[in-house]
Amino acid sequence: MTQTAKSHSDQVTLTQFIIEQQRGLPDASGTFTLLLNNIVIACKQISHRVNRGALIGVLGSAGSENVQGEVQKKLDIITNDIMVRALDWGGHLGGMASEEIDDPIKIPKQYPKGKYLVLFDPLDGSSNIDINLTVGTIFSVLRCREGVEPETEDFLRKGTEQVCAGFVLYGPSTMLVLTTGNGVNGFTLDQDIGEFILTHRNMRIPEETSEFAINMSNQRFWEPPVKRYIDECIAGQEGPRGKNFNMRWVASLVADVYRILNRGGVFLYPFDLRDPERPGKLRLMYEANPMAFIIEQAGGLCSTGAERVLDIKPHDIHQRVPLIFGSKNEVERLIDYYQQPTNN
Ligand code: F6P
Ligand code: MN
Repeated sequence: MTQTAKSHSDQVTLTQFIIEQQRGLPDASGTFTLLLNNIVIACKQISHRVNRGALIGVLGSAGSENVQGEVQKKLDIITNDIMVRALDWGGHLGGMASEEIDDPIKIPKQYPKGKYLVLFDPLDGSSNIDINLTVGTIFSVLRCREGVEPETEDFLRKGTEQVCAGFVLYGPSTMLVLTTGNGVNGFTLDQDIGEFILTHRNMRIPEETSEFAINMSNQRFWEPPVKRYIDECIAGQEGPRGKNFNMRWVASLVADVYRILNRGGVFLYPFDLRDPERPGKLRLMYEANPMAFIIEQAGGLCSTGAERVLDIKPHDIHQRVPLIFGSKNEVERLIDYYQQPTNN
């Protein structure tokens, strides 16, 4: 049967969905809905800029480096500014932190301060922007101590303390994937009416998979458990796993997570032996933690190999972590390999 578009009267907008969810919570004040609304407005603006691309001269390098020593794209800076400007005035936030900015971002004096903190990666996968592949925005919401100017330490909270996490995917469709700790739901931006519409209710990651995602060019630096796992996948039907595996690597975390949410899979950006000061590539506070919250809420697992990502006590806003997540059975297998002394 061909898929037919739902009539507008059947559609649930993101705003309706969130307000209905909040009604079920005794101490909900509506502040969170307003905060989310401002995040969504920023992401619609980013979606527009990303979509216009070369037509409005936003592609290419900005000629600067961020705090992590990565070359910034023009769009890294533009999208960071869009996020900050959409969020600083609303009175919902005590402060913000961004991949692109060294220290926490303060709320300007003229605006009231609120009870949440937002941490974000304004344009994840930005190395893909000039070749027109999928990129995204990732965000994580924490509670803030009220009435205080948050310091760096106030942001350094375990992933288990997140009240909301989400990402927006700027792909063939613009999509928002969201959790507030009550499952994971996906919304597609209807460009004609400018609203995110609930299209993927209660997303669940299949427990079984035969697809893995890893940057194979780092193979010589991996630790033994990861080497063993990938060797066994590649050995296919004739190997110890007795089945063939497929590999996918978009090099855009948002796109790899979205694929895994839909059809399962396991993603690895593991610890590697290149630089002990750099344990992995992905950043805990605005990449790994929000994705871990979403993955677990969708029935998957997320680990460094040695510990659950959401249980890590952070020490730096920009710290990196090894990251292994996806279908439950494969992540459990990897954790098991890490626990076997002969593998280490
Ligand atoms: O933000 C970092 C990031 O771009 C992720 O989106 C992606 O998963 C990863 O880096 C890709 O890394 P590499 O370029 O090493 O494949
Ligand atoms: Mn990123």
